[in-house]
Amino acid sequence: MVFDIDMIKSVYAAFPKRIAAARKAVGRPLTLTEKILYAHLSEGEATKGYERGGSYVDFKPDRVAMQDATAQMALLQFMQAGRSQVAVPSTVHCDHLIQAEVGATKDLAKAKDKNREVYDFLSSVSNKYGLGFWKPGAGIIHQVVLENYAFPGGMMIGTDSHTPNAGGLGMVAIGVGGADACDVMAGLPWELKFPKLIGVKLTGKLSGWTAAKDVILKVAGILTVKGGTGCIVEYFGEGARSLSATGKGTICNMGAEIGATTSIFGYDEKSEAYLRGTDRSEIADLANEISEHLTGDDEVYASPGEYFDEIIEINLSELEPHINGPFTPDLAWPLSKFAAAVRENNWPQKLEVGLIGSCTNSSYEDISRAASLAQQAVDKKLKAKSEYTITPGSEQVRYTVERDGFLGVFENMGGVVLANACGPCIGQWARHGAEKQEKNSIITSFNRNFAKRADGNPNTHSFVASPEIVTAMAIAGDLTFNPQTDTLTNEEGKQVKLEEPAGLELPTKGFAVEDAGYQAPAADGSSVEVKVAPDSDRLQLLEPFLPWEGTDLKGLKLLIKAKGKCTTDHISMAGPWLRFRGHLDNISNNLLIGAVNFFTEETNKVKNQLDGTYGEVPAVQRQYKLHNIGSIVVGDENYGEGSSREHAAMEPRFLGVRAILVKSFARIHETNLKKQGMLALTFDNPADYDLVQEDDSIDIVGLDSFSPGKALTVVLHHSDGSTNEIKVNHTYNEGQIKWFQAGSALNLVKENAI
Ligand code: F3S
Repeated sequence: MVFDIDMIKSVYAAFPKRIAAARKAVGRPLTLTEKILYAHLSEGEATKGYERGGSYVDFKPDRVAMQDATAQMALLQFMQAGRSQVAVPSTVHCDHLIQAEVGATKDLAKAKDKNREVYDFLSSVSNKYGLGFWKPGAGIIHQVVLENYAFPGGMMIGTDSHTPNAGGLGMVAIGVGGADACDVMAGLPWELKFPKLIGVKLTGKLSGWTAAKDVILKVAGILTVKGGTGCIVEYFGEGARSLSATGKGTICNMGAEIGATTSIFGYDEKSEAYLRGTDRSEIADLANEISEHLTGDDEVYASPGEYFDEIIEINLSELEPHINGPFTPDLAWPLSKFAAAVRENNWPQKLEVGLIGSCTNSSYEDISRAASLAQQAVDKKLKAKSEYTITPGSEQVRYTVERDGFLGVFENMGGVVLANACGPCIGQWARHGAEKQEKNSIITSFNRNFAKRADGNPNTHSFVASPEIVTAMAIAGDLTFNPQTDTLTNEEGKQVKLEEPAGLELPTKGFAVEDAGYQAPAADGSSVEVKVAPDSDRLQLLEPFLPWEGTDLKGLKLLIKAKGKCTTDHISMAGPWLRFRGHLDNISNNLLIGAVNFFTEETNKVKNQLDGTYGEVPAVQRQYKLHNIGSIVVGDENYGEGSSREHAAMEPRFLGVRAILVKSFARIHETNLKKQGMLALTFDNPADYDLVQEDDSIDIVGLDSFSPGKALTVVLHHSDGSTNEIKVNHTYNEGQIKWFQAGSALNLVKENAI
């Protein structure tokens, strides 16, 4: 048993009172989402209702899950918090760093070798601080979480955008950045803008070729990639109750593609069956006792229009299989219209590869249904015309589907089983020939299909569908094939038709696994040594940032006045830099290299005020740091939009930038800056942005009386001897000012922990 039953018991024990308090505070029946959110308020029982889409609220999540790429910096930061153990149950999953090349065994061995120091670090730090560690090969974070940790009514954050997968089992599960994970592991509350709610009423029942995946493919077509922003999507209705728990997981997983904060289904018989099927009857028994709290109130579902901000209705009995793409997951095509779209748009008709599995679609049900088609191909003497790969989501699923003969069926059809890892889903695919950048088509059962996502080739037209449709297409090797209506010519020259797929939600013989790949933490980790080689270029232990010196900041150099859009990607680029996610010094060499310099209109070229030459942003900043001279970054509107990547705040802080002064901030980045002890300031008059000159020396005045709501003053000393004094605002509250004074939020946590 890897889950924490005592934690679940205490969450459930508090539910009835907390939900009653919330219903009173809000003054009306509650949706499931509201019940779970109000039951997880950091302050305890609700004393007031919150404005959906307006109020910022502190929550206390029950769990944290991290994947290996994002866990590195989260855990390096956590080590700064002065805690001996994580405050909530947390896990690390090694899935992102395994490259798919030839097949599971060889690929896994290669990844273990190549990433050894990262794995050793994650394993030792997990062991020391009480985190569950899932080794490379154990599976993909979201599948492992669904099988082991997700529980109805729970709240979880995870450092991956498809964390909402756990919504399939009734959990509010939200993707966040590493800094948020670190905070929750350190015992700090977690802040979220209270979401708006989209209700999706499902009626009818799936049949034939249609699968749960088609629900979200259809929803993505309706809502588009931005339609869910700031919202939680709650599914309900008799159609919802007819879907398997893993099918629900698929739908919630891909809610990330419509920008939703998360998606959720209520607790029902299917959830119970999945909990029991995955050896968690104890949780099912507990959930049954409070089941009325694990779905929305009856009144809500009776007249959803009164309680949700938006309503969508889908009849599963009429839903067609869908294929979405290329290049965006919201370009939704019903199967019957897809062949015409392929021809009209001149997309490559020949299908090169079909890929099934990934965190989105690798359940027993998915694999068994796909295998039923593969078996037909073998029986009907059809040879798959496309390449075909299978990515199991976990070792438990892989072992079970191998035992039940499905992997053998795929191999008979010419399929290649990849490691239980992200692989092609996250671009970790050494696809032969991709470097030629030829125009070609692939189809996957994954979730994302942006250009270059799978194989790095911008001309790969990637389509998304259910595993069943992917398999049928791979057999046909032709994107215009419609398995519902078309026949195929077999090896004997006969016309044959594929029958509808059939499968099982759960294995009749139960799940089995020999070694799930789990490492439990040491009972007492105090003597465990965390392994980081001093000469590593991928990992570096963090040093605490220095506290505020207690004076105004004088004589800061202007590092860059960024012009126009400056997202977290402009501030801390991704791509090849991902390799250095655990090494702050090395990754800082990408600081602001994508930002456009207002004065030169070029990227990564700024004036070095020490000698008047122009150099790359990180290099110039390192010169200032060397001479112990602080600097300031000036920016435009919505500075730091994009992701919650904490590196975008840590890098400037690490290299000695003291303040970021902009017309406006993207809120998450602003908070990240505050957490790192940086001054995040905004022009009172946005036109003052124009006053900032390339050679300015800049003072920030008023820090001795830094207090909430009180503006500060910035003095611009221009090279011609003139000055401008401008008013700048901030949004620091009392607690955040203490973060600034202590040098960072973690420094303060550490002080309080001692
Ligand atoms: Fe994410 Fe795909 Fe892995 S969506 S968790 S990259 S399998």
